[in-house]
Amino acid sequence: MELKNKRVLVTGSTDGLGKLLAIAMLKRGANVILHGRNEEKVASLVQILKEQNLSISEKPIVCDLINSQAIQEVFSTISGSLDILINNAGVWLEGDTIDTTPEKIIEQTHVNLLAPMLITRILLPNLFKSEFGQIVNIASIAGVEIPAGYFHTIYSGVKFGLQGFTEALAKEFDNRNMRVMGYYPGGMETDLFKKSGIDYEKHELWMFDPQESVEAIIFMLTRNKKVNVKRLDLINQLQE
Ligand SMILES: NC(=O)c1ccc[n+]([C@@H]2O[C@H](COP(=O)([O-])OP(=O)(O)OC[C@H]3O[C@@H](n4cnc5c(N)ncnc54)[C@H](OP(=O)(O)O)[C@@H]3O)[C@@H](O)[C@H]2O)c1
Repeated sequence: MELKNKRVLVTGSTDGLGKLLAIAMLKRGANVILHGRNEEKVASLVQILKEQNLSISEKPIVCDLINSQAIQEVFSTISGSLDILINNAGVWLEGDTIDTTPEKIIEQTHVNLLAPMLITRILLPNLFKSEFGQIVNIASIAGVEIPAGYFHTIYSGVKFGLQGFTEALAKEFDNRNMRVMGYYPGGMETDLFKKSGIDYEKHELWMFDPQESVEAIIFMLTRNKKVNVKRLDLINQLQE
């Protein structure tokens, strides 16, 4: 399958993996709907992409995913057919559960789990209009395996939830003109951790270049319609 002329929405495309993925798709001729929570950051990204001669033909979406009512209002303005939905936006949280504020737990569940469910439900009619709809949910290896002696319980809990949603949704669309896939990366060199107040180095030994994830996701999206890379776990195996 080709990405050329495909209409794609990447949530959380103002930074990290989502931004790199949006750029890679634009370079392959896809029509990308960008999404971010901050209007100025979205506008500045559009400007940067235009300076790189990448064409943004689609109106970007600005919506803070913590707000479920806003999700309903904003994402339902997307009309017409949609070929690919990437539920990528996410926030990190680590530390002992007893020290975690209710607000942080609510943010985790809203941004990392509720938002992908709501956005998917809103956009299913658009995906049905595509000749072949595709959904990729960006979960995490932390929502697949629980590491010993180190805690990000709430993050793991919601990412496990995202895995469950992804696999159940894939079953729901078994043998239909639609495929649903889950991507489960290990640590990537992005600002995800810094934004949550965790002061990791940009290049910790357990992190890898997010461009590896871009290539993995593009591989998933470009397989023949007959097959489904239902899940892909990408981990850092060389800690050096
Ligand atoms: N980095 C890792 O090690 C790692 C490992 C496994 C899985 N993941 C997952 O990969 C995905 C991408 O993460 P990343 O590493 O690329 O992080 P990132 O660089 O921080 O990018 C996250 C994106 O999500 C957006 N976002 C965060 N909170 C939002 C909200 N309330 N409303 C709307 N948008 C929001 C961010 O917007 P701003 O630009 O405004 O911040 C940004 O565009 C996430 O789902 C993350 O959980 C990351």
